[in-house]
Amino acid sequence: MSKKILAIETSCDDTSVALVSEEGFVYGMVSASQDLAHQPFGGIVPEIASRNHSAAMLPLVEELIKKTQVLWSEISGIAVTNRPGLIGSLIVGLVTAKTLAHVHNKPLLGVNHLEGHILAPFLFDTERSKPQLTFPFIALAVSGGHTSIYEVQGLGDYAVLGATLDDAAGEAFDKFAKMAGLGFPGGVKVDQLARTGRVDAYEFPRGLIHEDSYQMSFSGLKSSAQRMIASIEPSELQAKLPDLCASFQEAIVDVLIAKLDLAMKKTKIKTVVITGGVSANSRLRSKAQDWAAKKKFDLHIPPIKYCTDNAAMIGYAGALRLERGESHDLNLGPSPRVWPEDFKSGNFNKGRQARVQRS
Ligand code: KG4
Ligand code: ZN
Repeated sequence: MSKKILAIETSCDDTSVALVSEEGFVYGMVSASQDLAHQPFGGIVPEIASRNHSAAMLPLVEELIKKTQVLWSEISGIAVTNRPGLIGSLIVGLVTAKTLAHVHNKPLLGVNHLEGHILAPFLFDTERSKPQLTFPFIALAVSGGHTSIYEVQGLGDYAVLGATLDDAAGEAFDKFAKMAGLGFPGGVKVDQLARTGRVDAYEFPRGLIHEDSYQMSFSGLKSSAQRMIASIEPSELQAKLPDLCASFQEAIVDVLIAKLDLAMKKTKIKTVVITGGVSANSRLRSKAQDWAAKKKFDLHIPPIKYCTDNAAMIGYAGALRLERGESHDLNLGPSPRVWPEDFKSGNFNKGRQARVQRS
């Protein structure tokens, strides 16, 4: 019988618990979003995030166990995100996981959140059949905290080809949305408004797009959007939002696809994965599909519930590592950064070492 792993994810502002098999089958997942709690502040407030994780954690574990009807005797291990992330948020998940591991005498697995995102496209469930995905592949992990391109050769064999030098793409979406008065988190609102706008209505910079490197930059785009919004009469802003959103979004999507295209060309790998919260963006999904079809690449984008932060991806990474014989002591600590051994640096940036993404 397949091993069942109970997984916990609390690295940022989503509390999520899941039960996953070593094949990537998700028996169940329950999550609590904190968007409403952070909305008045226009961004994530770490103290509020940890407090809400504490309140949501145990009820979610109980709900998952009830929903899946799993017995503790059937659970083979407890996986938890212990890095990278907001330290207070990580501590809540980690303490819960350690306590469950100790009380039920199960192995504990501390998982790198980014490894979770990289492996998310393998997940399947009663609504989605097992994906035909094999190593190696190129992965773009793009969310509010990270925007990196990896060459993935196998479990634990991840080379960072490149990353953003400044803002993550999701952060740029959120900051733009805040400037335009759209609230937080803004990515999804920009996506919705952009559907009726023109992508060429405004000229936005596409940082480093023509550079022969995988590095990206979104801070110039943000400043340009700030100037653009300031130049518009407040009474006219509302009417111009669809065009502004569509043009801004297009600049981000163009950069992401250009860098993926470079990675596919240089590595000659034919399979590509896009994962992380921003991969929920409808324009990115459709443009990536057109690009992959044209270039005959095998593109995998997980369903949105496995793109955004979720415990299922952590459970799958933990299950594969347990299968390999790995586990951690109960003195495992949280880390705001990835561990040095989590990623290799690619040799693709002409001698410049790619920045290892921090969160
Ligand atoms: O992976 P995620 O849930 O959390 C982390 O940041 O790790 O990603 C959240 C990010 C936010 O910046 C949010 O605005 C962005 O993903 N996002 C989107 C869309 N849905 C979520 N950005 C653009 N278009 C969307 N549809
Ligand atoms: Zn994430």
